[in-house]
Amino acid sequence: MANATAQTKKREAFGSRNVFILSAIGSAVGLGNIWRFPYVAYEGGGGAFLIPYLCALLTAGIPLLFFDYAIGHRFRGSAPLAFRRMSRAAEPLGWWQVLICVVIATYYAVIIAWAAMYTWFSAQIAWGEGNEKDYFFSDFLQMGDLKNGVSLDFVPQVGIPLIGVWLVVIVIMALGVKRGIGLANMILMPLLTLMFATLVVQALFLPGAMDGLNAFFTPNWEALADPGVWASAYGHIFFSLSVAFGIMVTYSSYLKRKTDLTGSGLVVGFANSGFEILAGIGVFAALGFMAQAQNTDVSGVASSGIGLAFIAFPTIVSQATGGSIFGVLFFGALVFAGITSLISVLEVVVAALQDKLGWSRVRTTLTVAIPVALASIAFFSTTTALQVLDTTDAFINAFGIMAVALVAVILVAWILRKLPVLREHLNKRSSFRLGRLWMVLVGALAPIVLGYLFVSEIIAKITTPYEGYPLWFLAIFGWGMVIALIVFAIILSLLPWSRRSHAKDDPEYDEFLVVENYEPDAETGSIAVADDRRKGARP
Ligand code: ALA
Repeated sequence: MANATAQTKKREAFGSRNVFILSAIGSAVGLGNIWRFPYVAYEGGGGAFLIPYLCALLTAGIPLLFFDYAIGHRFRGSAPLAFRRMSRAAEPLGWWQVLICVVIATYYAVIIAWAAMYTWFSAQIAWGEGNEKDYFFSDFLQMGDLKNGVSLDFVPQVGIPLIGVWLVVIVIMALGVKRGIGLANMILMPLLTLMFATLVVQALFLPGAMDGLNAFFTPNWEALADPGVWASAYGHIFFSLSVAFGIMVTYSSYLKRKTDLTGSGLVVGFANSGFEILAGIGVFAALGFMAQAQNTDVSGVASSGIGLAFIAFPTIVSQATGGSIFGVLFFGALVFAGITSLISVLEVVVAALQDKLGWSRVRTTLTVAIPVALASIAFFSTTTALQVLDTTDAFINAFGIMAVALVAVILVAWILRKLPVLREHLNKRSSFRLGRLWMVLVGALAPIVLGYLFVSEIIAKITTPYEGYPLWFLAIFGWGMVIALIVFAIILSLLPWSRRSHAKDDPEYDEFLVVENYEPDAETGSIAVADDRRKGARP
């Protein structure tokens, strides 16, 4: 009987450490690397930006990556379960991360759907000779305004590929950690790397590429005196590395007991940055070409995010020799990078519900993914999708992740005082051992930097209505959403855990505690089993 329970309760796992590393890189390398980093770096002083960027990576990004790994691996659970095992009072924090992921997943998917359509459009230069900006906003998105409220008018050329993206993602998720997530990353990540390397080489051979690289790398040392540049380096690194919103906690809970955690973290951190810098080189080489073709400066054509991908790049595709191939590679890379990140975001939600309810993988995936997909299609394939996307991204991603990260480090480091336990756990199994410096970085530097970012974001968002959107709109999709997530997180943490859930009955975790000689955690239903084993009773 005990064995049967152990089998049904067995936690899913990655096939090997390499699959985990590939999946963690797959999660980190996403839209943020390809369209966000190049512009953030350029705006933040070009070559000089590498200094705040490297500081942010080494003092916050990688230490917090270790922090997430340690929580997920030591407490072996999805974000809510891992935090609950750490302390009953910390469970809402896990649900807050889950809800942030729900919101991010809804709009992240639609950007992948746009990129999928633009991969197809690039092959035939569908936007013609005309104006790529009009094509994107008017012909493709059929963008309307907010005068009559949020629209529910369905835009089929966005909605249909969006349904396609959700179907692909749901199948991958339903197949589980090993056969779904792990396998998808093993196929997509090498393909992505190959496509991106080809793209960068092609960009470097475009006329004017060197001007683009000069603009990108020429250091503007004065930028370093601007605290905003440092803030943007730190702000960028959290999203880019996928830290602080539950992803790495969840992924590391699928690792075998004896896994080198810090060694893996270093590989992931540097691979993500390598990819990011490569993206900067590719994007600016292409912008150099565009500037030369239009007889202007690189500063005149450089733009961020959506403008860069869906307006500047189509222009380059139209003008460059072999432009279609270039476009297919660029948008195809966005699709692959996006899918591997989206599945990691969604896994935070699926794993949390699976832990809480004790349901099978397929049942949980369908229960979670179908409503999220429907919400995504309802809000983001309409004529006001862009405004909703822009606002939710600004509030939930930029602001929400900062807030949840700040609360997490304060709670874990100062209130629960768990950093020594986490450090010991990492050091027991890792090649790269952490000294007290790690605790100082996570416990002192991170709260200061995050606190500064958080307060400046609040002031900025209160003093100027974001992008001049109507106040009712910001109240619902901005502030309303921020507050709703916190309230729902508390409610979810108050709902009882199913008797079949891992929180109540997890023989594998008990075994882990005994083998590691760890104290049983308060509040897990299986303390008694662990205690019996400690006393030498047979399981
Ligand atoms: N880390 C992912 C990105 O950069 C979420 O897009």
